[in-house]
Amino acid sequence: MGTDAEIIVVKDPPALAETAARTIVDEAREAVVTRGRFTIALAGGATPRETYERLALPPLRDEMSWDRTWVFFGDERAVGPDDPESNYRMAREALLSRVPIAPDRIVRMRGEADDRDAAAADYARTLADVFQTRRGELPRFDLVLLGLGVDGHTASLFPGSPVLKEVFRPVAAVHAAAAALPERLTLTFPVLNAASRVLFLVTGAEKAKVVKTVLGDEALLPAGMVRPAGGRLTWLLDRAAAALLPAAGGG
Ligand code: 6PG
Repeated sequence: MGTDAEIIVVKDPPALAETAARTIVDEAREAVVTRGRFTIALAGGATPRETYERLALPPLRDEMSWDRTWVFFGDERAVGPDDPESNYRMAREALLSRVPIAPDRIVRMRGEADDRDAAAADYARTLADVFQTRRGELPRFDLVLLGLGVDGHTASLFPGSPVLKEVFRPVAAVHAAAAALPERLTLTFPVLNAASRVLFLVTGAEKAKVVKTVLGDEALLPAGMVRPAGGRLTWLLDRAAAALLPAAGGG
């Protein structure tokens, strides 16, 4: 597949959750059939919660091979796993505690670590172990879920951050001055762009302007720099988020 983005517009957040959860199940099935397992990086923020809740309910929940699924995270705030701001906590509450997945298949980022550079290096080591990559090789996720901030950030890759230029480390500790919780851990572009498939989940009128910018000609914002080289890129939007795109509609 090339790097052109496929844009899917659905009616509203429930329709987006349904479509996204179904996409996860389909990607998981294909990955398990072809590679014997499914590796996914979850998005944080609020948008994916409903998708995770759908995936945790029958019938979709029963279509997943949970014993062959590995769950990672795209980013984490510098908080502990029980903090209300923890991306891991959201995923645990909405999905992971509700499905039969073994705890050792869930690899959370240790946002609470005093030494977040060490936590990033640990996460990179775990990725290398699970994906059995050698030094210099990148993990290839079957599916990476991402969100979009109104400033164009995705994962914890914020505009102007030095981490945007990262070419080697798959995981980094970052300071995002503009964010309410500025200290974070994040996957970097090399990993996102090595994925087999990337799926952005975006809802709401407040995102319409940035969606238009990111998907327009000047894709210079971090979310626009996600272009999986040998993978498939899908933007899943609800109508409100797609409202300013030239051919808005669908769904
Ligand atoms: C985070 C995220 C971040 C998020 C966007 C959108 O930890 O903050 O992973 O990149 O996806 O900020 O967040 P909402 O879905 O809450 O709008």
